[in-house]
Amino acid sequence: MSWWRRGVIYEIYPRSFQDSAGDGVGDLRGITERLPYVRDLGVDAIWLTPIYESPQRDFGYDISDHCAIDPRYGSMEDFEALTARAHELGLKVLVDYVPNHTSDLHPWFAERPDFYLWHDGPPPNNWIAVFGGPAWEQVGDRSYYHAYLPEQPDLDWRNPAVREAMYDVLRFWIDRGVDGFRVDAMRQLLKDPQLRDNPPNPDYEPGQPEYDSLIPLHTTDLDEVQEIVAEMRGVIGDDRLMIVEVYAEIERLVRYYGEGGRGAHLPFNFHLISTPWEAEAIGALIERYEAALPEGAWPNWVLGNHDRPRIASRVGAAQARVAAMLLLTLRGTPTLYYGDELGMADVDVQRFDPAGRDPERTPMQWDDGGGFTSGEPWLPYGDLAINVEAQREDPGSMLSLYRALLRLRRDFAEADYRTLHAADGVLAYARGERTAVALNLTGEPRPLPVAGDVLLSTHLDGGGDGLRGDEGVVLRL
Ligand code: GLC
Repeated sequence: MSWWRRGVIYEIYPRSFQDSAGDGVGDLRGITERLPYVRDLGVDAIWLTPIYESPQRDFGYDISDHCAIDPRYGSMEDFEALTARAHELGLKVLVDYVPNHTSDLHPWFAERPDFYLWHDGPPPNNWIAVFGGPAWEQVGDRSYYHAYLPEQPDLDWRNPAVREAMYDVLRFWIDRGVDGFRVDAMRQLLKDPQLRDNPPNPDYEPGQPEYDSLIPLHTTDLDEVQEIVAEMRGVIGDDRLMIVEVYAEIERLVRYYGEGGRGAHLPFNFHLISTPWEAEAIGALIERYEAALPEGAWPNWVLGNHDRPRIASRVGAAQARVAAMLLLTLRGTPTLYYGDELGMADVDVQRFDPAGRDPERTPMQWDDGGGFTSGEPWLPYGDLAINVEAQREDPGSMLSLYRALLRLRRDFAEADYRTLHAADGVLAYARGERTAVALNLTGEPRPLPVAGDVLLSTHLDGGGDGLRGDEGVVLRL
């Protein structure tokens, strides 16, 4: 059985996890120092967002050398030491892979114009960049396409030489012993060769991000992308995990599992992030997702990442505990964003990120002085009352809840899922024959819709009468 079916993935944003050099920016040695914490938490794998050489316009997602470590984060030796230590501790290491674009400072951009999407003439259509503004940048009498920043030109995946060069990048990291890849922006890889305009989005309302004003019909999720997914999976193989980042409707998303399981092992399921925090809506989401999964496909769930507001800010501190129970008791591989296990919230800061994502990227809070760096942290800390040291020995803390859930879930990780109740603020479901979960998504008491012995309450006190406000319970049936 593949480890990742029972496993839990922990996303680390290297800039913000632990600084060992005192420059206020996290680094690989810092991560290595903190691996025992990650192991003790009870997760199975770490995913590192990009650590490669980069001008950092999009904080590592603009890569100038895919096969070199950015000196801000350390050296290749540091990466090897990190991987060796992780493996010693029984942790898998997943790295980010960014195939859609490079930095404009990548040598290819100057030396291999055929590797990019150049158009002779001014911008040929209405395509908009994800971060806003036109997706074409005019240089003299020619223009190039960029799905994200102008400093992130898109590669031309219709060029076989691009494919080979980018598959070599996968092989390079496979040779360095990584256990898998998180593939960035998978749905963006191919664009309409006829360069047709994207249609207007009839549901668009002023004030929403500019990107949403069009339906990205001709720039994302083209059917042919599936051929590349399958090819990539061929290179990554069966023994390493392939996760792909795809924001799409469930029925489109599940296509990324590929025909006969020859695609991604896990197309990231982000739908919990965008679904209203209501029992009916979440219950319907789970049903729709479970029903859409192709034969043999393994589900997965995500509550937050480096691109989206933190769960504690979205649903509040009390419901963040219920959210933790949901994430870790659904059927499928959970991905947990660093700091969510403490209840870290968004920090009100807007300094660096061109797309406004600084609030969810602030430094990990290790103790009441921060503990992330001996210098000045690149982004400010949040409320430092929320920290690892304070929560480690506190039996009622969020961290204790995460640890308890991570232990308990092993008993039913692969059991069937069945909805029992999704109404009046309460979502309840069974996992196999012996376990049930009941979540109160409101602040008011609610009756328990299913009888059983409380194995774990989000209040960490053995459970009360019925469901208390903001309480979730795991029950033995
Ligand atoms: C993905 C990353 C995001 C990045 C973008 C462009 O969505 O998660 O952080 O900005 O791709 O690479």
